[in-house]
Amino acid sequence: MTDQHSDHLEQAFEPFVIGPLQLKNRFIKSATNEGMSPEGIPSRQLVDFHAGVAAGGAALTTVAYCAVSADGGTLPNQIYLNEATMPHLQALTAAVNTAGGKASAQITHGGCFTFTKREGQSRPLSASGGFNKIGLMSGQFFKREMSAEDMQRVADDFAQGARLARQAGFSAVEIHMGHGYLLSQFLSPLYNKRQDEYGGSLENRLRFPRYVLRRVLDAVGSDLAVICKFSMTEGVREGNRIADGVGIARGLAEEGAHLLVLSAGMNAESITTMFGSSFPPENRAVVTNPVMKAAMFLQQKLEKPRVFKELYLLDYARQVRAAVDTPLAYLGGLTSADGVRTLMAEGFDAMAMGRVLIHDPAWVNTLKTDASLMSGCTACNRCVAMMYTDGGTSCVLGQPGNPQRNRMPAAS
Ligand SMILES: Cc1cc2nc3c(=O)[nH]c(=O)nc-3n(C[C@H](O)[C@H](O)[C@H](O)COP(=O)(O)O)c2cc1C
Ligand code: SF4
Repeated sequence: MTDQHSDHLEQAFEPFVIGPLQLKNRFIKSATNEGMSPEGIPSRQLVDFHAGVAAGGAALTTVAYCAVSADGGTLPNQIYLNEATMPHLQALTAAVNTAGGKASAQITHGGCFTFTKREGQSRPLSASGGFNKIGLMSGQFFKREMSAEDMQRVADDFAQGARLARQAGFSAVEIHMGHGYLLSQFLSPLYNKRQDEYGGSLENRLRFPRYVLRRVLDAVGSDLAVICKFSMTEGVREGNRIADGVGIARGLAEEGAHLLVLSAGMNAESITTMFGSSFPPENRAVVTNPVMKAAMFLQQKLEKPRVFKELYLLDYARQVRAAVDTPLAYLGGLTSADGVRTLMAEGFDAMAMGRVLIHDPAWVNTLKTDASLMSGCTACNRCVAMMYTDGGTSCVLGQPGNPQRNRMPAAS
């Protein structure tokens, strides 16, 4: 290892500023649906999970999927940002801060990607109307093209969601613009078939996501870091390619995003593009909900097997790095000290990690004293099915989550 390489590892532990927020280092826990909010109420297990990540050294931990409205969820038992969840989220952010970290709320609307029928949701909203293939699972066979009023309402909901996140003590919000959720349905030519100024060219497809970002920046941008997560490539024919991903990054940077988190793939069509490895058929055995079982079965039938490679999204992320000056967080298959060196040397400002920190929340602290650290995570993706279990998301190689604490509201 060269001196230059050791410097790059040290660089990862230097403070980092995103918008109004200073982070103590460059490590971010990416959002990984926790399955720890029964009936939508954040549990003590959710607090333990994020406080554990903060105590383990990551500067910022992201609470997954916080719906901005009652019709914005995808699965049952998801957090909805409203007055009822405030005390529980306040307990969570306080615990994360006490453990030495900061918390980010992933603010999201699922659009037509939903497995539940919720209040106020007759036909789920999307960029375009028509047949809703995801709705085959929930009985919502048709989606509705959003009108100008719908867009105004949803943008208001994102702004209000961000204000509530601030009230709950979060230090950042991450607007989810990837993976096939509502804002990604606008960005993607696969979903967006509009003929008006919100469809067609990339500039048009970006218009509504940019407007949402603007509204969130105006609402909380001087107090909270405003992060956007998006898919650089969708890994599916008719979907966005990396050239579009670069264009999306440019548009979001121009609008003033404080940090971009560089993901890839779509939940329904190209999950292995997102995860860089195949899903085992056994995952279905853990899931009790027949709708989710059927969805997983279809997914496995339709996707090609994929063998995991460290930093599997690096070639794409490099192209975004070359195009924008805005701070960027690399995401996708970082598993070793050498991977951290590579990302710092390549000019990324931060790195987000999902599975490695599910496998070992203290990985970042261990890295401080072990310059050749490798993760024991095998990228088997079995933790994804664990989110449907009583204890919530955990690594199958470690301890399962505590079902009792997962039934106790965080603020009780
Ligand atoms: C159990 C699990 C749940 C996930 N849920 C979400 C989610 O709710 N929101 C999201 O943006 N990404 C989600 N992801 C994707 C991760 O944030 C990340 O993009 C992916 O795991 C690749 O990063 P990694 O190689 O560091 O794990 C999830 C990943 C896992 C393993
Ligand atoms: S179950 Fe554990 S080893 Fe498998 S991908 Fe998830 S964190 Fe890694």
